[in-house]
Amino acid sequence: MERSLVLIKPDAMQRDLAGTIIARLEKLGLKLVAIKLLHLDKALAQRHYAVHKDKPFYDNLVDYISSAPIVAAVFEGKKAVEVIRKAMGATDPSNAEKGTIRGDFGLDIERNSVHGSDSPATAEEEIKLFFSPQEIFGY
Ligand code: RTP
Ligand code: MG
Repeated sequence: MERSLVLIKPDAMQRDLAGTIIARLEKLGLKLVAIKLLHLDKALAQRHYAVHKDKPFYDNLVDYISSAPIVAAVFEGKKAVEVIRKAMGATDPSNAEKGTIRGDFGLDIERNSVHGSDSPATAEEEIKLFFSPQEIFGY
């Protein structure tokens, strides 16, 4: 079964939206198989967003994602990556449709409430950064 990494970003945590966002994903038929609250250090933030290291927004992005505690979670299900990306909406909340997580809760392109893996291969790599195999459950 396919898995995806979800991060609930600082803006959503600070507005107490973690439960709301997790519930939305559960309602889509996805299974929560791992979860933790953690405050990313710079090194893990840089590794997680390494694909963007040459982009002009990289330093701000790393500072932002490590600015407050976040929830990291793994969801499992059929086409989990695609289902979650659709539920998240466009990267920039001003372009995200209403009814999507970013469309409803995102504040701006940086404070866009949620991260979801962008391919099954990326998901496997990202999950390894945040969880050991023992922290991922089948039930
Ligand atoms: P994410 O990785 O967080 O799920 O977001 P995404 O796939 O929709 O977007 P991505 O292209 O991977 O960009 C990662 C995060 O970088 C910030 N960003 N800022 N200022 C900008 O032009 C800009 N572009 C991207 C966003 O916070 C995005 O979520
Ligand atoms: Mg991305």
